[in-house]
Amino acid sequence: MDKIVIHGGRRLEGEVQVSGAKNSALPLLFATLLAPGTHHVGNVPDLRDITTVEKLLTVLGARVVRENGAFTVDATPIQSVEAPYDLVKTMRASVLVLGPLLARLGHARVSLPGGCAIGARPIDLHLKGLEAMGAEISLDHGYVEARAERLKGATICLDIPTVGGTENLMMAATLAKGTTVLENAACEPEIVDLAEALIRMGARISGAGTDTVVIEGVEALNPLEIAVMPDRIEAGTFLIASAITRGDVLVRGAVSAHLEALISKLREAGAEISEEGGGLRVKGPNEIKSVDIKTRPHPGFPTDMQAQFMALMALGSGTSMIVENVFENRFMHVCELQRMGADIRIEGHTATVKGVKELLGAPVMATDLRALAGLAADNTTEVSRIYHLDRGYEHIEKKLKGLGADIERVKE
Ligand code: EPZ
Repeated sequence: MDKIVIHGGRRLEGEVQVSGAKNSALPLLFATLLAPGTHHVGNVPDLRDITTVEKLLTVLGARVVRENGAFTVDATPIQSVEAPYDLVKTMRASVLVLGPLLARLGHARVSLPGGCAIGARPIDLHLKGLEAMGAEISLDHGYVEARAERLKGATICLDIPTVGGTENLMMAATLAKGTTVLENAACEPEIVDLAEALIRMGARISGAGTDTVVIEGVEALNPLEIAVMPDRIEAGTFLIASAITRGDVLVRGAVSAHLEALISKLREAGAEISEEGGGLRVKGPNEIKSVDIKTRPHPGFPTDMQAQFMALMALGSGTSMIVENVFENRFMHVCELQRMGADIRIEGHTATVKGVKELLGAPVMATDLRALAGLAADNTTEVSRIYHLDRGYEHIEKKLKGLGADIERVKE
């Protein structure tokens, strides 16, 4: 397996272009299952999860052509309604086929995803919502089987504003009979992107981006034509990479409205951030101030930026409290940061990070697909198990190299 070797301490400078958002591309590609015909989805990042979606759509019977980040999906001939274990186990988001298949074909069989590195991550809220819409759900040898002749509109109050649950139910409700109201819905930009795509397909949706989404079911939808929005988490990662190296980087494609919580915390930490040329410019501070964060559903501080922000706080001038509220077990990166000399103590959901003067290069593992390490360390950091990074970031080392990082991918 490949590893990444970083000779740290280089100041990042220049411009970097953000790729299409993985977490938007995934539901958009699954939304193609809702309508027969030929769909076009552009600006899709080249990531392993996207290859898994391609395989899954193909297994279901769709004809998929992928060329330079553009997907053409002919979803007319769906022959199977089963998302098999082999694919679901590599990508939890495969459960997003449930809503579209059930809505269009009245039947779906999806392997249960099981736990994952960042917690148990059940899908009970997806299933309860579909049941409220009239689906019969059963469990059969590790598979969820859902059936409904036609789903019916319902008012569903989600216990947690789950991102995937909101997406699944929103897609299912587009073809249901009657009106569905999703209360305590997730408000992430990816939800807005999906709702806009569904509206283009002929769905009737209002309120996406607020905690109440209303979907009036229609009889049928049309094929989709859309380009995926820029990845806010990749953008945020480059903002932090610039700050941590005291750099000066223009992150093209970064949308400030998607990144408000992070931008305000980076400013508190001393970074200068300005809107410029279709993106955001970040100038890193000479002294990184320690600030506290608590992860929350959007528009709160994103859990997907917690690990990177902790790396920044490891070099803060004081003490920072980092509280993880979204996932139960998303502190695996702490041990790796400690190996680089960070002073971090964990108690329950809170990490107390006392800033140190410098981080020391060390062999570490990427334990989270959002782990970012080594850029600021004094000497060589070797990051292994980088398949996690490769799941989240397109061409990460090439992009960082373009900004002046001394970084290379080597075969282990
Ligand atoms: C999405 O996961 C993202 N994935 C994650 O990004 C992201 O970390 C997460 O949202 C939170 O922002 C995709 O969009 C593909 P949730 P999702 O359902 O939809 C609990 C990355 O880095 N929950 O909002 O699976 C769950 O256990 C990835 O790209 C239930 O209890 O997240 C968790 O604690 C990692 N029951 C919380 O809700 C349910 O039925 C939030 O999960 C569903 C969720």
